[in-house]
Amino acid sequence: MSSLQTVLYQSRATLLPDAEVIGGALDDILAGARARNASDRISGVLVYADGMFFQLLEGPADALQATMGRIAADRRHKGVRVLRHAPADARMFPDWPLACVSAANLRESVMGSGNGASMDLERLPADVFAPLLRAILTAPGVPNLATMLRSA
Ligand SMILES: Cc1cc2nc3c(=O)[nH]c(=O)nc-3n(C[C@H](O)[C@H](O)[C@H](O)COP(=O)(O)O)c2cc1C
Repeated sequence: MSSLQTVLYQSRATLLPDAEVIGGALDDILAGARARNASDRISGVLVYADGMFFQLLEGPADALQATMGRIAADRRHKGVRVLRHAPADARMFPDWPLACVSAANLRESVMGSGNGASMDLERLPADVFAPLLRAILTAPGVPNLATMLRSA
């Protein structure tokens, strides 16, 4: 059996930044990806924020490589840049073939409520990203970035 690995990448959406277009495209991507990931034993999370995709995937190395190959060739985004690719001891998202975290949830948890600063996900350390997304998916009260960084 091939070993467990995790990949985090960012890319730029090539879709029109129109809420309906993006919403429809996200639904299409998620529906196809969830079915495929489930049968490939891949799990993970997709984030769309301000024209950027951030996706964390985990699974057997060979399946992950094949999936990343298809994703990188997808015309719905460009500039795929891998931020982290590493072996993993255990899955962070075992219950999600592909969860989707909204930009609003992420913005709130990164900046805390009432903070007007802009969100710069590209600057977020890759090893903070996964725990942050997991916190958003699992906890009703999501810790903000300052809390995450202190406990990292
Ligand atoms: C941002 C983004 C994320 C995607 N995530 C996945 C994924 O997690 N798993 C997957 O199988 N396909 C994913 N896709 C779709 C693939 O790029 C591809 O269209 C799909 O796997 C079908 O490939 P095929 O037509 O070559 O069979 C994603 C596409 C985009 C644009």
